[in-house]
Amino acid sequence: MNCQIVVLISGRGSNLGALIEACKKKRIPGQISAVISSREQAPGLWLAKDAQIPALVLKTGDYNSRASYDQALSRLIDQYSPNLIALAGFMRILSPPFVHQYAGRLLNIHPSRLPKHRGLNTHQKVLQAGDATHGASVHFVTPELDGGPVILQSTLHVQADHTEKSLAADILKQEHILYPKVVSWFCQQRLRFENEQVFFDGQPLKAPMQIEDTAIKSFPSPE
Ligand code: GAR
Repeated sequence: MNCQIVVLISGRGSNLGALIEACKKKRIPGQISAVISSREQAPGLWLAKDAQIPALVLKTGDYNSRASYDQALSRLIDQYSPNLIALAGFMRILSPPFVHQYAGRLLNIHPSRLPKHRGLNTHQKVLQAGDATHGASVHFVTPELDGGPVILQSTLHVQADHTEKSLAADILKQEHILYPKVVSWFCQQRLRFENEQVFFDGQPLKAPMQIEDTAIKSFPSPE
């Protein structure tokens, strides 16, 4: 399949940048058909425009309920008939009808080793908790916030001199490897989410895959 991907963003768009690069270099067998931002000023929109990808804005403030925003969002998404919707720093909670509509086609990246530290400020939470390890996770989206099954995770050993800022920077580098990898698996039809079960290469995935696994090492990281 020539996988059509719609990417949803709210801000900087560095994960979007990693996905654009991976599509360009054919590490992902697919293309990004549109980028939709919940914020007009999201810098990530410029990355899309530079790559000649339709860059659309659906402002949160223009809708008076979550349901009406999500309905407008799905109308916009459906214009592109995507195989996959990739959330890349899309800072909105999605309503259950929206999530169900795209069940098995919605991926998210989150800056923690889920199920640890759902929600916001994950780097701060890791430092406050004194965690020895941190990381990032890519997961299928379910109605539960940051609660869907994790496909792939990375590990970062927290150092004594790590700050929130340096943790964020180190984790982001891992995110840029994880997300294109998982999207490539999805587009190669190696990854499915059906009846609440993730399948990888036809086998039920019993636990999240780890970036240390050899399959990950063989994947070239973005320059
Ligand atoms: C990334 O760290 C991503 O994991 C996080 O927002 C950042 C977006 O950065 N997403 C979440 O926290 C979602 N719960 P980016 O705009 O540079 O890709």
